[in-house]
Amino acid sequence: MPLDIVLGAQWGDEGKGSITDLLAENADMVVRFSGGDNAGHTVTVGDQTFKLHLIPSGIIHDDTMCLIGNGVVLNPAVFLRELAGLKDRGIDIGPDRLKISRNTHLITPAHIALDTAKEAARGDGKIGTTLRGIGPAYLDKIGRAGVRANLLEDPEQLADTIQAHVASHNETLTKIYGAEPLDADAIATEFLEHARKIAPYLADGSVMVDKALKADQLVLAEGAQGTMLDVDHGTYPFVTSSSPTTGGVITGLGIGPGHLRNILGVAKAFSSRVGSGPFPSELFGDDAVRLRGTGANPWDEFGTTTGRPRRVGWLDLVVLEHAVRINGLTEITLTKLDILSGLEEIPVCVAYEKDGQRIEHLPLDLPSLEKCTPVYEVLPGWSEDIMQARTPAELPENAIKYVQFVESYLGVTVNRASVGPERDQNVDF
Ligand code: GDP
Ligand code: IMO
Ligand code: MG
Repeated sequence: MPLDIVLGAQWGDEGKGSITDLLAENADMVVRFSGGDNAGHTVTVGDQTFKLHLIPSGIIHDDTMCLIGNGVVLNPAVFLRELAGLKDRGIDIGPDRLKISRNTHLITPAHIALDTAKEAARGDGKIGTTLRGIGPAYLDKIGRAGVRANLLEDPEQLADTIQAHVASHNETLTKIYGAEPLDADAIATEFLEHARKIAPYLADGSVMVDKALKADQLVLAEGAQGTMLDVDHGTYPFVTSSSPTTGGVITGLGIGPGHLRNILGVAKAFSSRVGSGPFPSELFGDDAVRLRGTGANPWDEFGTTTGRPRRVGWLDLVVLEHAVRINGLTEITLTKLDILSGLEEIPVCVAYEKDGQRIEHLPLDLPSLEKCTPVYEVLPGWSEDIMQARTPAELPENAIKYVQFVESYLGVTVNRASVGPERDQNVDF
């Protein structure tokens, strides 16, 4: 069987967690291939809501195997906290259901301290990172100075490596950023404790996925972040430090491209972004509150990981065209269609205008992108509440037309729209 991918087509928080949980019903294995606990994936099943940061969103199905692939950066303390949180809620996950690739890189307190110090030093130019140590951990990985998970199986080597790692980063923290040094001994001791608990979860991720595919199992790769946060293809430098796009699946798991089948892009029916950086179709004031919500509903636009209010705007089809092209999307799921109910008119960004010229493809350099203003086509809205709709026939005509407009602009099938956060709140087309 092949490998299917679910990934974010915008700036993250598109609803990847709930769609992965839905598709995991038919998957044998669900794997994460990039990012770390900067991700916050919400899965709602009945009256239970889970917020997952590192553990794949397939975990709620008790017959699904999960893997944290080598492309992820894993904070051991956060991983253990997440396991404990799930156990408290009756989901007891042992190494028989969850594995971590041995070549996954670890996030340490030094990475977190550096993330904080660097953001403070950037001042007004800050990226607005999640302060989870993501950038510094990937920097160490690419700089060949990272700490890999396989060390958790070798306590002596682990202690030495962590001590040297903290000592080296203390130089940067104190001398460049004027921050307090970290206690290398205490961190080494903490990591030895984590190692005891995490070592049984380690595996060779590439072999594991390969075996599953050869055994005709369906593997589902769950993206974190979104295409516009990709370090190569996003709004650089206002991006994350990994490749949350299709290319990242191949290197982030260690598989060949021949296995790929469906590449599903998840997109909100509007747009949102947390953190700084360009956002051409952004709305402000009352219009923004209308899409964001005030926090009264669990799905209102406040960050799952940081609680920050998300910036919101109209759907941007220039962004989605970029996502289709970069990822080779074969289908799109539109989430949160219900949020548009009650709007008389719904503007959709169909191009940008820059220096009097119409732009159809996302400019990659920041100065150009910052000069772009959106060109909108205004579609008619609908007044009905659609959260109870389960079939296309139960959707208002204008909701269907909205979906069809997206589909025909992009030339990619919209296979499904979600109309609420719960597993069954979907309309399949
Ligand atoms: P992810 O990071 O892509 O998994 O998305 P998040 O979990 O960070 O944010 C998506 C939010 O929207 C969560 O609160 C979900 O429960 C919620 N959500 C997902 N799909 C829908 C939907 O169709 N309608 C509504 N109202 N909420 C949804
Ligand atoms: P999920 O998987 C939304 C954003 C941060 C910041 C930038 C860099 O839930 O969709 P980082 O901490 O990665 O160095 O921050 O990326 N960001 C996300 N925004 N959803 C996410 O994950 C994100 N992960 C990182 O807000 O702008
Ligand atoms: Mg999220």
